[in-house]
Amino acid sequence: MASQRELDLVLFGATGFTGQLTADYLARHGGALRWGLGGRNLDKLEQVRQGLALIDPACAELPLIQAQVGDAASLRAMAERTQMVASTVGPYVRYGEPLVEACVEAGTDYADITGEPEFVSNLYRRFDDEARRRRLRLVSCCGFDSIPHDLGALFTVRHLPSDVPIRLRGFVLGQGTFSGGTWQSAVEAMGRFFKAPKQGRKKRTSSPPERRVGALEQRVFYEPRLKSWACPLPTIDPVIVLRSARQLDVYGPDFRYGHYLRVKSLPRLLMGGAAVTSIFALAQLGPTRKWLLGRRQSGEGPSAEVRAKSSFSVTFHASAGERQLRTVVRGGDPGYGETSKMLAESALSMTLDGQRLPAVYGVLTPAVAMGDVLLQRLQAAGMVFEVLTEETSQA
Ligand SMILES: NC(=O)c1ccc[n+]([C@@H]2O[C@H](COP(=O)([O-])OP(=O)(O)OC[C@H]3O[C@@H](n4cnc5c(N)ncnc54)[C@H](OP(=O)(O)O)[C@@H]3O)[C@@H](O)[C@H]2O)c1
Repeated sequence: MASQRELDLVLFGATGFTGQLTADYLARHGGALRWGLGGRNLDKLEQVRQGLALIDPACAELPLIQAQVGDAASLRAMAERTQMVASTVGPYVRYGEPLVEACVEAGTDYADITGEPEFVSNLYRRFDDEARRRRLRLVSCCGFDSIPHDLGALFTVRHLPSDVPIRLRGFVLGQGTFSGGTWQSAVEAMGRFFKAPKQGRKKRTSSPPERRVGALEQRVFYEPRLKSWACPLPTIDPVIVLRSARQLDVYGPDFRYGHYLRVKSLPRLLMGGAAVTSIFALAQLGPTRKWLLGRRQSGEGPSAEVRAKSSFSVTFHASAGERQLRTVVRGGDPGYGETSKMLAESALSMTLDGQRLPAVYGVLTPAVAMGDVLLQRLQAAGMVFEVLTEETSQA
């Protein structure tokens, strides 16, 4: 029924920093997609549309859809016009749930680029059962959090036997800066860390009884093959990788994952750790949190020049029985250039590739919802997923 709707996709938050980049990407690569721009401010949406019409004159006809978090009827009306909503409106823990609720009520698929664990846990808790029942796909973490890690792990295990235990480590190297929206979301998430309801932090998926899935050790170590220090990285990414592993048999009977920041020198690691600890501490108290939030404004972000110089790589080291495998996922500016591409390609996949996607529904990870179909799309769009080395040790 949803596919008979006026639109395939509404991009909600099209006026924001990442939203505009995503709209730009869709204007260039959207092809036959029937899409519209959603946001709370019609004048700003009109400006975005005019910019897109310079890329493709057909964009001058894109529908503009005014909707605001806090006005449930406007969210519901937006969700009813489209097969899917992709949202770049964050912090998600503050603004996200009313939109997901509207999508579930309207029978509309949903994707976002959150990296906020509390929000994602809330989605599992509140909407998973109903979304399964209504055969809807609600897919969070379709940006740098967590697609390179989630699809990189899937890509790696696809090259390994699926009948032996797999040990996988992902080492993240990133260069780039962040937007006001990301800063606001990160400070908000840190400020809520001790206040978030306990149930909000609980995992919502458990391993099937015949398979084991869990985390590897959390310690700092030197990884000689990368000539780097590895420091446990407690983002949402390892949570997403493990969720995918619980749902997909290809991760084998016993899958363990460790997620690390890769840092070239120990002093740099210590300085980075001290900076994050200080920000975390300042985010705990109202006045200092307010001061932090004022450091970067919503709508700001790195310039095109800065983005062009930014890049990331995630190197995976895997062992499965006698097999040792190293793979890498590489791309450009992680936070914005590649995130807008990843969200847009996820939206294209969820709307245009519907017949090729696995018939799984509920609150899903990108690997479970779109898996190889999205992987192929991202490879075609220039993101690199490759095998570096493959060895078999002799017993
Ligand atoms: N996972 C990742 O790798 C990744 C990467 C990039 C961004 N993000 C996340 O994406 C989110 C957006 O980041 P950004 O830098 O693009 O932020 P931004 O520039 O501040 O954009 C926020 C958007 O939300 C809209 N908005 C705010 N309050 C609203 C409301 N009540 N109703 C409707 N719309 C509302 C804003 O509309 P106006 O323009 O009208 O103010 C704007 O379009 C953040 O949560 C960030 O953490 C994640």
